[in-house]
Amino acid sequence: MYDLSKLRAEEFPLSTQTIYFNHASISPVPQRAKAKMQWSAELLAQHPSRHFMQDGLPMMMAFHQEIADFINAAGPQEIVPVTSTSAALNQIAQSLPLQAGDNICFCEIEFPSNAYPWMSLERDGIEIRHVPAVNGGLTVEALELLVDARTRVVAVSAVQFFSGHRADLQALGEFCQQRGLLFVVDAIQAIGHLRIDVQAMKIDVLASGGQKSLMAPPGVGFMYVRDAVAESLTPRSIGPNATRDWLFWLDYDLTPMPGAARFMAGTPNVVGMFGLLESLRLLRELDVEQIDQYTTGLAAEALERLARLGYRPVTQREEHSAIVTVESGLSDDNTNRLVSYLDEHGISIVKHWSPQRLPHVRLSFHCYNTTEELDQFEAIIKDFQP
Ligand SMILES: Cc1ncc(COP(=O)(O)O)c(C=O)c1O
Repeated sequence: MYDLSKLRAEEFPLSTQTIYFNHASISPVPQRAKAKMQWSAELLAQHPSRHFMQDGLPMMMAFHQEIADFINAAGPQEIVPVTSTSAALNQIAQSLPLQAGDNICFCEIEFPSNAYPWMSLERDGIEIRHVPAVNGGLTVEALELLVDARTRVVAVSAVQFFSGHRADLQALGEFCQQRGLLFVVDAIQAIGHLRIDVQAMKIDVLASGGQKSLMAPPGVGFMYVRDAVAESLTPRSIGPNATRDWLFWLDYDLTPMPGAARFMAGTPNVVGMFGLLESLRLLRELDVEQIDQYTTGLAAEALERLARLGYRPVTQREEHSAIVTVESGLSDDNTNRLVSYLDEHGISIVKHWSPQRLPHVRLSFHCYNTTEELDQFEAIIKDFQP
């Protein structure tokens, strides 16, 4: 296990002020990412073209290579920077070779970023099939009942934003591969929390914004597109740097770049990419398997304590990652009061509504949280009077 006190002191000074259990909404950037972005912003102000060429270009190469290594992609050409999960998944949805009557399956409780891009294809005659959630997520058994000969895509969040359900990516990937279905993973709640191996898990496309599990700034993320899949995709949104002969700006030739680079959407967020890379390096140093074990343990502990206090859990034991959601058991207004009360006591969590619009509260942990923080949380929430 890594050194928690050192991590908290060196990288997450907010931990001296706040009990932050809201990483599934937005994570703090570690100090090293902040420092790197400040450095990059300073150089952009002083000598932008030199900074872009001398520092930016090598960083971009490292960005592709280190993310590829992290998720075990076949190579850096399978990675492309994106602005958000939703932007990435919209790009994929719009570039698929689909016919009217084809269908796409995803779990009925996917976050909109992994639902709306597919639903936008309904206007082209594509059918959307919502797979009923089992224990808060997508299972092979439930999927099997809806997949047929016209299914083309299965999309899933590696960890569900509301239930915290952790998908069995290996089983889902094998299911998709056996049937020739495109397997698309939204990894924003998972990528910095648990090990993802895109080759072993037979993942075709994986997208993640930076601001949650990766502890990177918002507005920057990455997408993985398996090489063989990329060649079958014809982008509809085409950046000037997404075409094969892109440097000859006036060729006006839309032949896509090989690999994931066909999804380049203009000049990338260089400052944000510097930040993301530093965050990724920290997570890799800590070791994502250690983070998984540790944060899943914190979540299990939180689940137990909340259940003891009478809160009804949505999150299922044994099938979660670092997200825990419970029914507040209160009216909407009183749930808001609970969240504000905790905030006044220096504790950050968030309210979410269930599909039935019942108010719930969600706690989400990351690598530097502690059981002592859980003790304090428990002591404070116990005294809440609506
Ligand atoms: C599972 C999931 N996907 C995507 C998003 C949003 O991602 P982005 O803003 O990068 O599109 C969220 C945000 O809560 C999420 O929980």
